[in-house]
Parts: sequence; C-alpha cells; structure tokens
Amino acid sequence: MSKKKKRKLKLKNIGLMFVFLCIIAYGSISLIDYLNPYKEEVFLNKGYSTSEVEFILSLDDIEKDKLIESEKVEYIIKQYTIEHYTELMNLGYLDDEITTILGYNDELITYITTHAKIENLNEWINQSNFIQARFDRYLAYYSENTTLTFKNIIERVNTNRDHAYYTNVQSTDTSLNELLLVNKYYQLDQSYVPDNLVSVSPYGSVRMVKVAAEAFIDLCDAAKDEGYTIIGISGYRSYSTQENLYNRYLKKDPQWLVDTYSARPGFSEHQSGLAIDVSSNNQDILTFEMSNSFKWMKDNAHLYGFILRYQKGKEDISGYKYEPWHYRYVGKEIAATLYSTGMTYDEYAALYLIN
Ligand code: DAL
Ligand code: ZN
Repeated sequence: MSKKKKRKLKLKNIGLMFVFLCIIAYGSISLIDYLNPYKEEVFLNKGYSTSEVEFILSLDDIEKDKLIESEKVEYIIKQYTIEHYTELMNLGYLDDEITTILGYNDELITYITTHAKIENLNEWINQSNFIQARFDRYLAYYSENTTLTFKNIIERVNTNRDHAYYTNVQSTDTSLNELLLVNKYYQLDQSYVPDNLVSVSPYGSVRMVKVAAEAFIDLCDAAKDEGYTIIGISGYRSYSTQENLYNRYLKKDPQWLVDTYSARPGFSEHQSGLAIDVSSNNQDILTFEMSNSFKWMKDNAHLYGFILRYQKGKEDISGYKYEPWHYRYVGKEIAATLYSTGMTYDEYAALYLIN
C-alpha cells in the first residue's frame, strides 16, 4: 500500500473515531438529560415563570424535589429570599400586605409573626395615636366593641378606658413635675404635697406650685389689660381637703354621680398644685361659662400654659363632666399642642409621657 493510501486510511479512521465519539457524547448528554428530573419543563408546566424556574434550578436538589412534589408555590422567589415572608404568608397575609409589614420595625414584625392574622392591620398601625405596646389591649377591647372606630378604640385604651374607672390604678410619676398626670387611673400618695406652693395673689387667695402660679398671674394680668376679670377660686387642695369635699358630696348625691364631678381623694389634680378653678367677678364657678371672661380664657389660656382640662365631648376619657372653670398648667408648648389638636391631657400623656 502506497504511503498516500495509508495516510488516507488513517485520516478516515480518525474521522470515524471522531464521529463515533460524537455519537457517544451526544448519547450520553441525551441520556443524562433524559434521566435529569429537574428539567425546566417540569417547573414551567407547574406554572412557574421563566425567571422563577431559573431561580428554582439554582436551589439545591432537596428543595427542587420538594417543589416537584408540591403544587405551584406562590411568590416562590420572595418566599425563599425574604425573611418572614413565608411565615406571614402562612398566617394569611397577602403579598402587598406583607410588603407593608416588612417596612415596620422589628418589634412590630415579631409581634405580627407571633400572632394570628390581624384583620385591618395597616389601619390599626396607621392611626396617629397607635401605641405598639398596647396592641393586645386594642384587639381585646375591639372584640367587645366592634361598632367603635379604630381611632376611638385606641383613644380609649390609651387612656385606660378598657378598665373601669379606679381600677388598675398606679401611683403617678411625680418626677414629671409640672407634667405629672392625675386622673382616675393615676393617683398621688396621701402624703404628697408639692414643693413651692405660692399664692396667686392678687388674683385669688389660693395657692399653686410656683411655676403655675406665676403663669396664672401673667394670664390674669393679660386678661385684665384686655378688660376681663379672672380670679382663682380653688387651687392646691390637700388630700384631706379633697377627702372632706368628696365625703360632703356623698351626703347629697349617690357615688356614681359624685364621681362625675368630684375626684376621690388622691385622684384630684388640685392635690398636684397644678390646677385651678376660676371665675370672673363672683365666687360662683358654675356661672363662669356664661361670662366674657370664659370666652377670653377659652381662646387665650394656652398662651400662658394652661389647658381646659375637662372638655365637653371628652367626658368618657377625662372621666368627668365638662368643667369650663377648671384649668391645668402644662406649660406653653404642650398647651399649644392640646389647644390646636383638641386632645385631652390624658391622651397626650399616654402618647408622649407615660410609655
Ligand atoms: N372637680 C375635679 C374633677 C376635682 O375634684 O379634682
Ligand atoms: Zn377643679
């Protein structure tokens, strides 16, 4: 055989070998593909999108097997990649609700993931008076008062109205000084006497704590300059004075009625030295509302740091009937806030001072 022929044969053999190897390779690849349980179509046929399939194929085999055996998993990429997503979905929250929830702070997210699904969750949380630590109480109170709005529920629970008056009582935090809260849930000790009690003279022969008395005198001076008379009729009252007063009222009215207009001893703002009952030019506080001095007081008291403490329409929160004569010193800044929002001091304290 000539050299040339030999070379040709060799080339032919190499070619055949190459074809043979290609067939083997192709066969092997096809076999591997045939035997591969994680084919794209498997997941596409379940309804996953191409990007979801791409994601699924990147998971380890155990996960892929689980997915092959289960129905289509909604929002699969989020479920695998976003913390708490699956927990929230299992609780019954929808995708857009979950997105909102995941924007909340960690404490709130933990609360939500460890409780059964809360209906209208965002509405609760978006209320301006929402206090996270009281969420359980809002939900419990709401379950018994489903006709109230969320805002009302929150307003009431913030001011402890989910408990009966004079129950769940706490000693008030007197370190708050002129901002301390006294109401039917926050009391002063029997022995509590404020420091710095001074007279509001010449605008009455009653005493208040110095900062409040000075502000009251400024207020009365300003009223006087504009032609109105304001005088203090009752300022600081000791525990025992309040006790005598309350007991005197009990002799003429039933307790439920007395409780609408008089504080029990230890529960009166007058004991704090920060409250004052006022009148115009006579001693009768009950007619004060009819006077022009009251109109002036209504529009100006906040400029001197005083608030009308027991408002009309807020009886359920303050715990007392409307008292147009009773003013409480809280300082100019807070007084301005309460004047413009109409919020009671009970609500304000719950939101900004007590929690
Ligand atoms: N009249 C008010 C509520 C008091 O007794 O303090
Ligand atoms: Zn009063």
